[in-house]
Amino acid sequence: MITNEFWLDRWQTGRIGFHQEGVDPKLVEFWPTLPKNSRVLVPLCGKSNDMIWLAEQGYQVTGIELSSLAVIQFLSDNDLAYDTYQEGELKIHTVQDLSLRIVEGDYFQFTENNFDACYDRAAMVAMPNSKRANYVSHTLERLTPSATVLLISLQHDGDDQTPPFSIDEQAVISLWGDKIQKISSENLVQTMPRYKERGHTLFEESIWHIKP
Ligand SMILES: C[S@@+](CC[C@H](N)C(=O)[O-])C[C@H]1O[C@@H](n2cnc3c(N)ncnc32)[C@H](O)[C@@H]1O
Repeated sequence: MITNEFWLDRWQTGRIGFHQEGVDPKLVEFWPTLPKNSRVLVPLCGKSNDMIWLAEQGYQVTGIELSSLAVIQFLSDNDLAYDTYQEGELKIHTVQDLSLRIVEGDYFQFTENNFDACYDRAAMVAMPNSKRANYVSHTLERLTPSATVLLISLQHDGDDQTPPFSIDEQAVISLWGDKIQKISSENLVQTMPRYKERGHTLFEESIWHIKP
């Protein structure tokens, strides 16, 4: 069972193979241009550098992350000065020189609304089946009716007990609604030897969009 403790333990023991050193190339390729100051939600953000890229495009970025270790590493790795305050169960870290906030705590306790966009990389696929629908509806409730979503999903033939979980096309559409459209897909087994070495014949990364 994937609990909050599972993730806290992954950070404690440094098992964070999902983290990427640079900015995700798919974000740079597929992120649509939005008006400056658009409010962008990054659920389950880890210490992703994608948030820096989004903030540098002129958006107001809010990442939400459970692990205090992830938050501390993100802020110190990027040399960011910040202020912290407590809001109920959540700790809000506001970066001083970038339009970026990291909310530390359980995403399901985060209830702010009216975000103009959402970027989901390795977030939906981190949620076990039992929590996935709840995760997506909680996310959609945070967004304006005309919000943009960029989602990166995975479909693979590997272990179905540990993340990242494989989610097929039909499941993505039934979770996010029929406004979601697949805009690109790549079987990483063909381009990245490590997936073949791990025994996969399919490790397909798909990019999805909800556009106003
Ligand atoms: C697979 S990682 C992806 C991180 C990030 N999106 C990235 O691309 O590197 C999933 C992250 O979600 C965090 N997480 C899991 N459950 C959470 C929850 N209920 N609330 C907030 N964060 C959570 C974990 O600590 C972990 O950092």
